[in-house]
Amino acid sequence: MGRQFFVGGNFKMNGSIKSVTEIIDNLNKAKLDENAEVVIAPPSLYLLLAREHLRKGIEVAAQNVFDKPNGAFTGEISAQQLKESGITWTLIGHSERRVILQEDDAFVASKTKAAIDGGLGVILCCGESLEQREAGKTIEVVTTQLKAVADKVKDWSKIVIAYEPIWAIGTGKVATTEQAQEVHAAIREWLKKDVSSEAADKTRILYGGSVTEKNSPELAKQADIDGFLVGGASLKPAFIDIINSNSA
Ligand code: PGA
Repeated sequence: MGRQFFVGGNFKMNGSIKSVTEIIDNLNKAKLDENAEVVIAPPSLYLLLAREHLRKGIEVAAQNVFDKPNGAFTGEISAQQLKESGITWTLIGHSERRVILQEDDAFVASKTKAAIDGGLGVILCCGESLEQREAGKTIEVVTTQLKAVADKVKDWSKIVIAYEPIWAIGTGKVATTEQAQEVHAAIREWLKKDVSSEAADKTRILYGGSVTEKNSPELAKQADIDGFLVGGASLKPAFIDIINSNSA
C-alpha cells in the first residue's frame, strides 16, 4: 500500500499577518515526522507570505480556486496564478463553501478539473449533514459528491479526498474511529468501482472534523485513514502533534 500520511491545515478565514507568521515560525522550528506530507491553507491574502516564510518541504494550499484561467471574474483566483506563485495545492468543495456559498457538485467538479489541468494538487472535500446521516444516506451523499468529479476527471493521482462530516466540523463532536473508518472504506470501495483499482490503492483519504492531538493517534491507526484535514487545531501549537500522530 504505502500511502504517504498527509496532514492539511485549513485556517479558514482566520488569522492576521502576525498570527500567520507565528504559526509558520512554529512549523519551521518544529521537528516534524519526515514521512508526513504537510500542507497549510491560509486565507488567500496570506498565501504569498506563507510561501515566502515557510521552510521547503511544507507546501501551501489555497482554500478555493476558480475554473477559468483568467478573465473578467471579479474576486476569483485561477490555478495558473496559484501555480506561478508557488502555491501547489488547493482545497475544493469544502462544506462551508457548498453550504454557505451554494457551490454545487457540478461546479466543484469543474473547479477540480481546472485545478488538476493547471498543475495543482487538490484536497477534495466531501461529507454529509447530520440529517443525511440520520436518514442513512451518508455513503450515497459522499459518493454522489465524488462521482460528479469522476465524471470530469480521470486522473486521480493528484487528488487527496477529505471526508468531513458536516456535523463534526467545528463542533467538537468528532466521528468515532468506527464511523470514520466505515465511510473511508466505502469511499475506497467506490474508487475501485468507479475510478480504478490503482486510484483505490493510492488515493489518500483524510478525515476532517474536530481533529485534535488527542483523537488523532487513534484515528490515524485505521486502515483507510491516511491523514487529516485540520481546521481549528491547525491554528494552535498542537497542530504539530497532529502532524506527528502517525509516528506517535
Ligand atoms: P475543524 O474543521 O477541525 O475546526 O472541525 C475542519 C475543516 O473544516 O476542515
